[in-house]
Formats: sequence, structure tokens, C-alpha cells
Amino acid sequence: MSSNKIKFVWENKICSVSNPDPNETILNYVRLKLKKTGTKEGCAEGGCGACTIVLGELKNNTIIYKAINSCISFVPSLEGKQLILVEDLVSKNGTLHPVQDAMIKYHGSQCGFCTPGFVMSLFAMYKNFSSYGNENIKDSISGNLCRCTGYRPIIDAAKSLNKVTGSDEFYKNKKKTLHLLKKIGIENLSLKNGNKKYFSPKSINELKKIIQNNSNSIFLSGATDLSLIVTKERKEINNIISLNSIKELKFIKERNSNIEVGAATSLIEFELFIKKYYPDFNSILKRYGSVQIRNLATMAGNIATASPIGDTLPLLLSLDAKLVLQKKSNKTVLPLKNFFISYRKTRLKKGQFIHSIIIPIFKKNIFKAYKISKRIDDDISSVCASFNLEIINKKIKNVKIAYGGMAPIPKRATNCEKILINSIFSEETFKKAEKKLEKDFAPIDDMRASKGYRMEIAKNLLTKCFIEIKKQKLIRLN
Ligand SMILES: Cc1cc2nc3c(=O)[nH]c(=O)nc-3n(C[C@H](O)[C@H](O)[C@H](O)COP(=O)(O)OP(=O)(O)OC[C@H]3O[C@@H](n4cnc5c(N)ncnc54)[C@H](O)[C@@H]3O)c2cc1C
Ligand code: FES
Ligand code: FES
Repeated sequence: MSSNKIKFVWENKICSVSNPDPNETILNYVRLKLKKTGTKEGCAEGGCGACTIVLGELKNNTIIYKAINSCISFVPSLEGKQLILVEDLVSKNGTLHPVQDAMIKYHGSQCGFCTPGFVMSLFAMYKNFSSYGNENIKDSISGNLCRCTGYRPIIDAAKSLNKVTGSDEFYKNKKKTLHLLKKIGIENLSLKNGNKKYFSPKSINELKKIIQNNSNSIFLSGATDLSLIVTKERKEINNIISLNSIKELKFIKERNSNIEVGAATSLIEFELFIKKYYPDFNSILKRYGSVQIRNLATMAGNIATASPIGDTLPLLLSLDAKLVLQKKSNKTVLPLKNFFISYRKTRLKKGQFIHSIIIPIFKKNIFKAYKISKRIDDDISSVCASFNLEIINKKIKNVKIAYGGMAPIPKRATNCEKILINSIFSEETFKKAEKKLEKDFAPIDDMRASKGYRMEIAKNLLTKCFIEIKKQKLIRLN
């Protein structure tokens, strides 16, 4: 059984919309249909945070609050969630939420255009954590830009939340909200609006049937890449199959020295998990887009997008990751290094989807990863590099090196690796290997970086890796 209605909780009641336009963004829906104009449009591509809203999601009998960019999320993704807008933060008697109060007290706003977005990002932080330190605050607002106030007063406002006592309206209404979210549950969705169709199955079995009858559909995970076809290219996507309600695709398992990550697992969940195995993977993910992006984006989406500057890709390549691909009931395992064919072209066949990603755990190895971009937060890489080495008695016994931003596809530096393998771990060896990067890559010039800069940085990152391992501490790249 499928439903043609999406259901979500808003203003303490269940709302339902029949056959919404699957290409309509939540931002347009709340501003134009719900007539709530507190949420702003700045860039319409997930980069400024003015459109930030919060979705409450049921997890293990509690509610997780996720800040997202409403400008790049489609309306059907509200299914089964609580919608929280900036207008909803003021209680019925007109009392401001502690986050709003703090923004006023600490002068966190001037023209005010960015303010609703900041308030919503801080609201999600306020609800999900019990104390707020520098790192946590900066991470929470990394996806919000302010052009007039500057960030110090906003950070001061966030820090002052540590002193707030008492509970907010959302806490007081939690029982009721939980009840409503459970009542809605999650259904198989089959929406039709004009010539557009949107499916959101609950199980892989249901997914298989939908794929069979709708072979021209496109898969949707976090929509942080796909949605830009609508918001930036101004095109329509006619047939969408969302993978987000499939529980069987939302998992992280550890077994036999491997980690397996289900395709629908969000990056924010993965970044917490991976920290204990590969701290540098976590550090790169902390600089991936923003909290709003990582709350939605998936590693499977990053892999299927096949961008040469996809940040997880060089890391996964140097870790020798494998993909579990599924078509009908057939599952095949493909090494990631064989997945990319040419610029944004992959070996995925029609109707085939990424089921999961298998990442080996190299307990004895040294794993390092670096991202070079113009800004620290919310920026795309110019070059991303990843190094995975096993060194025994000063000899390099195993080495896997991969770069993003250096070729039309993310790629291993095989010529460089050949110099390093079975060689003495020394500056001389690394200098020789550095030269081989010129054989491995012929980077391009674009607005992010010139080819000369890319090659220079690729070599410097290899040297940085060598020095850091030798000195056993982090060094600044000059
Ligand atoms: C503001 C902003 C900042 C960003 N910052 C970064 C960054 O720092 N680093 C970076 O690498 N990227 C960044 N991106 C790009 C984007 O977030 C990534 O490409 C993301 O990983 C895509 O994942 P998704 O789940 O949102 O995929 P979607 O947008 O849902 O899908 C992307 C593509 O993958 C396909 N797909 C999705 N899931 C599957 C599956 N399971 N099987 C087969 N095909 C599938 C879709 O059909 C589509 O073609 C940014 C994007 C934005 C808007
Ligand atoms: S409008 Fe800029 S992130 Fe949405
Ligand atoms: S207050 Fe004007 S952009 Fe932030």
C-alpha cells in the first residue's frame, strides 16, 4: 500500500499535503503556501544558511533536531518529521526562545537578513547538546554567513546559552510531539503531480518493484547535489525515487576488520563513528559543507556524483574501499578504484543503486588526509589528498595515496606509490616520489586553482605527510 499524501507535524498538529510538487523546495512551500516569510532566500544553493529551518526526527523514542537548508530540500522530504520554523520559536504568550533572547542581548543582528538562519542553527545546537563550547558553536554556525554583524557577537550569544536554566516550549510539548510523530509513522509514498512522480519506498523489496516499473527515475539521497538541477539550472526532475525512508540502507556495521556503511546513512552520523578509526576522516568531514549539508548528504551520494573534488573520494580510495551495488536482487562488490570512468561518469548501470560502502580497518597503518580550499568552512576543495601507509622498521611496507582535484576523476597516485613501496622511509625517497606526481596527474586550471598551484600543493602535501609522520606532530603548510 502506498500513500499519495505526505504527513508531517507542524504547530503541534499533523499536517498533510496530497501529491505535492516533488520539485518544490521546502523554502518556497513555507514562504508561499504557509505564508511564513521569516525563513529567507539568499543563495538558493545551500551556501549561505539564510533559509535554515529545523526538522525534528524520531529516533529511539526521542527527537533529534536537524538544521537543514530549506532552499535545497524538496517538500516530500518532510514526510514523518516535525517542521520547525523561526516563527515557531516564539511561545504563544509572545515570550522569545532563549536563543532569540540571547541574539538580542548580545547584539547578534544588524540588517537581520541572516538572523533567522543563525537562530535556527543555534536552536538545533541548543536542543541537541547540553553545553556549548567554542568548537561546537563554530561547527553549528559554519553554514551561516553574516555580512554585517560579524561573528563575535553571535558566538557570544551562543556561549551565553550555557547559563540558561529552565525548559523551552519544545521540551514541554515533547511528549505530544513524540506521540504525533509515532502516529504518522513512515509510509510508502507514491506521489504524482502533473508529469512528475516521486516515490519513497520503506523497504528494498518495495524499491525493487518501483525501479522495475519506473526505469527512467533518478535516485535521491540527501538531495544536496541533485536539488541544484532545479534551483540553479532551473530544470525539472520528472521521476524521483527517494532512498531516505529505507531503514535497511541506514546502518553502520563493524565486522571482520571492515566497516560497512549503508547508502542512506547521513555524513553527520558517519563522522562521529569514523573518528575512533581514522581521526583525519573525521577532520575532513568537519570541513565538508556545513552541519546543514552533512545532516542530509550521504557518502553514497558523494560517490555517485563522481565529482573530481568530492571530499570523501580520495580518502575512500586510499583506504581501498569497496562498493556493494545492487540491481534487482543481485548484489555485486566493486572496488571503488574501478568505479569512476571519466568526468562524472561511473560504472553504475540503469536501475542499479549503491547499497553500501565497505571500508577496511587498517589497524597498523598511518592514515592522513588534507583538504585545501579557499575558506576553512563550507567550501569545495581545490585539492584533497589522502595517505595510507604501513611502515615497519623504517621501511614502507604498504602505501596507498589518492588525490582529488588533480584529474577528471579522483585517482590513486600509482607512480608515486611505486617509488615509496619497499623503500626506506626517508626524505630522499619522498623527494623522488614527489617528482612522480607529475607523471600521475595533469591538473587543469579553473576558478578554484591554477594547474601549477594544484601540482605544487599536491607535492607539498606529500612532504607535509612525511614531516608529520617523522616528527609525529602536525605541521603548518607553508
Ligand atoms: C552548500 C554545499 C556545500 C557542499 N560542500 C561539499 C564539500 O565540502 N565536499 C564535497 O565533497 N561535496 C560538497 N557538496 C556536494 C554534495 O554535498 C555532495 O556531492 C553530496 O555528497 C551528495 O550527496 P547526497 O546524499 O546529497 O546526494 P544527492 O544529491 O541525493 O544525489 C547525488 C547523485 O547521486 C545519486 N545517488 C544518490 N544516492 C545514490 C545511491 N544510493 N545509489 C546510486 N546513486 C545515488 C543521485 O541520483 C544523484 O545523481 C556540497 C554541496 C552544497 C550544496
Ligand atoms: S538560501 Fe542560501 S543556503 Fe539556502
Ligand atoms: S545581520 Fe546583516 S547579514 Fe547578518
